[in-house]
Amino acid sequence: MIVDARVQRRVQRYGWDKAADYYERFWAKQLEPAQRRLLQLAALEPGERVLDVACGTGLVTLPAAEAVGPRGSVLGTDISEEMVRSLENAAKTRGFTHVTARRMDAERLELADAAFDVVLCALGLMYVPDPLQALREVRRVLRPGGRLVFSEPNLANPQVLLMFKCDALKPWFGVSPDEMGFTRRTITRVLRRIDFRRFAVTFFDFLHPAIPAPLLPFLEPVAERFERVPLVRAISGSMLIHAEC
Ligand SMILES: C[S@@+](CC[C@H](N)C(=O)[O-])C[C@H]1O[C@@H](n2cnc3c(N)ncnc32)[C@H](O)[C@@H]1O
Repeated sequence: MIVDARVQRRVQRYGWDKAADYYERFWAKQLEPAQRRLLQLAALEPGERVLDVACGTGLVTLPAAEAVGPRGSVLGTDISEEMVRSLENAAKTRGFTHVTARRMDAERLELADAAFDVVLCALGLMYVPDPLQALREVRRVLRPGGRLVFSEPNLANPQVLLMFKCDALKPWFGVSPDEMGFTRRTITRVLRRIDFRRFAVTFFDFLHPAIPAPLLPFLEPVAERFERVPLVRAISGSMLIHAEC
């Protein structure tokens, strides 16, 4: 189903506004392993200037702020006002004066060119009507030599493929009509086109985030075994992408 871009932005904005209150209660535990991997791959250094696009409540933004320390800075941007407010409150509670949050569409970053050392985006691009435009914006705000680290569902995974391509199954999986998935090929083609110089894709995770948290200790070891087998790994559920300007 093709959704008009303006409608998609509104659905995302107001839908996530409604989810802001319970987002962490429902998702924080399941998302934590993937977010930890993303942050490890980003290898943030003290003093770096970081932008977290589609930051949500700040599950990635706040650990990033810890990593860069008060000499650095982290800006979280999100299309949802309530997500931005939630991050502001969390940063205040922790006394993080080097964290700011702003409502902003990923396709139109109201930010100066080359203003950041690192851009992060955890499960954000999949909701944006024009991901190529969002990546162009990310490229623009990164300084030369800066890096982008982001995570996305892997469309080569059979379950993800069904979730994103079969409209009838979307409600069953809790996927909205406008969400999309990517393959390594589509992502790397786009990154090359917009002049990222080096990029690497890591596959991980066979476990859908909706799997109940109490089951994770039993299922994770099995999933980790799959991840170690090269050809099987390529159809895991998620991708982590590291790219440099
Ligand atoms: C699955 S949440 C991820 C939040 C956070 N990155 C995390 O890992 O917890 C997706 C986020 O994307 C945001 N979003 C959706 N469309 C967006 C857009 N066009 N521009 C910026 N943010 C957007 C939503 O508001 C939501 O907070």
